[in-house]
Amino acid sequence: MEKLVLHSLRGNVTRDVPIWLMRQAGRYLPEYRDLRAKAGSFMALCFHPEHAAEVTLQPLRRFALDAAILFSDILVIPHALGRTLTFVEGEGPRLPPIQNADDVERLKNQNIHAVLAPIYETVRLVRAGLDQDKTLIGFAGSPFTIACYMIDGQGGGFPRARAFAAEQPKAFAALLDIISDATAEYLIWQVRAGADCVQLFDSWAGLCGDVENHIHAPTKKIIDAFRASCPGVPVIGFPRQIQNYAEYAAKTDVDAIGLDPAARFDVLPKNICAQGNLDPEILLKGGRDMTDAAARILEDSRGRPFIFNLGHGIIKETPIDHVAALVRQVKEFKR
Ligand code: CP3
Repeated sequence: MEKLVLHSLRGNVTRDVPIWLMRQAGRYLPEYRDLRAKAGSFMALCFHPEHAAEVTLQPLRRFALDAAILFSDILVIPHALGRTLTFVEGEGPRLPPIQNADDVERLKNQNIHAVLAPIYETVRLVRAGLDQDKTLIGFAGSPFTIACYMIDGQGGGFPRARAFAAEQPKAFAALLDIISDATAEYLIWQVRAGADCVQLFDSWAGLCGDVENHIHAPTKKIIDAFRASCPGVPVIGFPRQIQNYAEYAAKTDVDAIGLDPAARFDVLPKNICAQGNLDPEILLKGGRDMTDAAARILEDSRGRPFIFNLGHGIIKETPIDHVAALVRQVKEFKR
């Protein structure tokens, strides 16, 4: 029997609904906080294969999830391109901001795999420690979202990236191109190390002013390069807050789309697997509101390929009991 997540990603309507949760490994778990403290920093944790593999597997030991997602971060690609990534405690990521075409030019010819080698080792270790019926999801950020962080150097509205795209369009296009090439290779190497499928996180797609050139085209370029090396390996897109999901699906050729909490499944054609889309705030709240919201999503998913997930990452204050109750509810439901 094919793994449940892969079966849904390949367009099948399953009786049992598969489930995994964005940011399922992380600070809401005490065992994560322990290992994170032992590693010393988030970056040290990401680049320590044994620790990162352990953190990847932690949520599957507690909950009947159908997939593990590699523990890493989307911003390791800028790091591998020579822009040293750090995390400020309690604030978030910091990168030296890209300011002009020369900065972009200097990103070329980096040996990204030398930096990313520990991450491929994490994938191999997770594969070896994961039950055969569970799916291992690899991932990367999409070029637009990664470029936003690289130009602003941090999160928060990305004013510099938006000005850069308008004022230096050629350098912006060159930057997207370099990120796309690195990302395709990074995903291919994750699959060679043992990933079953991959997700592209475009968390800030909703801010994009030129969706055609800055989202659809670079995403399609990555998917074409990826499929040439990894035929049949499904790709999930997560273009958060994009205006037109159907157009994104058609133009990028993704197999599945992670939807926002506000999106309805019928915006997607039936051959595209829908993934989502419980509001993480509702999981935080738990109780009757959560059970009702999850039940509605499950009912709406009838008759289409579907993977249960959140509409965005788990909030770190989320009680573990709420996650356990959600996973139980989804696993008990039959379509
Ligand atoms: O989902 C998983 O369990 C896999 C691991 C994963 C992380 N980040 C671990 C992480 C994944 C898939 C990501 C993706 C990611 N990283 C995105 C896209 C998804 C999204 O949430 O929109 C983005 C935008 C980032 C960049 C990033 N990483 C930010 C802005 C932050 C700081 C915010 C925060 O929550 O602290 C991170 C840090 C980060 N990435 C943490 C984890 C578990 C927390 C770090 C810690 O332990 O201190």
